Amino acid sequence: IVAALGKRSVVLVGMMGAGKSTIGRRMATRLRLPFVDADNEIEAAAGMSIPDIFEVHGEPHFRDGEARVIARLLDSGPILLATGGGAFLREDTRQRIRDKAISLWLKADADVILRRVRRRENRPLLKTADPAATIARLIEARHPFYEQTDITIDSRDVPHEKIVEEGIIAL
Ligand code: S3P
Repeated sequence: IVAALGKRSVVLVGMMGAGKSTIGRRMATRLRLPFVDADNEIEAAAGMSIPDIFEVHGEPHFRDGEARVIARLLDSGPILLATGGGAFLREDTRQRIRDKAISLWLKADADVILRRVRRRENRPLLKTADPAATIARLIEARHPFYEQTDITIDSRDVPHEKIVEEGIIAL
């Protein structure tokens, strides 16, 4: 469908609540690529939920598992991969994504993110007294990494199809 893609995957990057899974699923259908959600794959590999992995084993353990799962998925052939918000912060993961995929940052404002991540029990990083402040802090720390993606798409409150279309055109 998009010839420029060749055998490369498409990897969606960005904060929780930016719409990576929703947009990713639709984009995958359009591109005729299998959609894979890295968080789901990590849970399947670990046999436990992400909040449980954080609680039982801690974040560093989760991050190592996440990097391994992403490496395996990118080796498995062209896919559309939605990554967890922290994955692109690792140098080895960024390098693998650069080698095998086109990366696309779904960029969302803090207020949009806060509105979308109401079910915080699924997001261990937001189990804090002041989620708005946590989101602001994460955005500040992460944007320099997200800016290293190949493509940036604004994930604002417009119909999903419009964002999908923008992403496909940019590939
Ligand atoms: C995380 C985001 C989550 C999940 C984990 C950590 C992060 O994925 O991987 O809770 O560090 O931002 P989503 O971005 O899909 O919510």
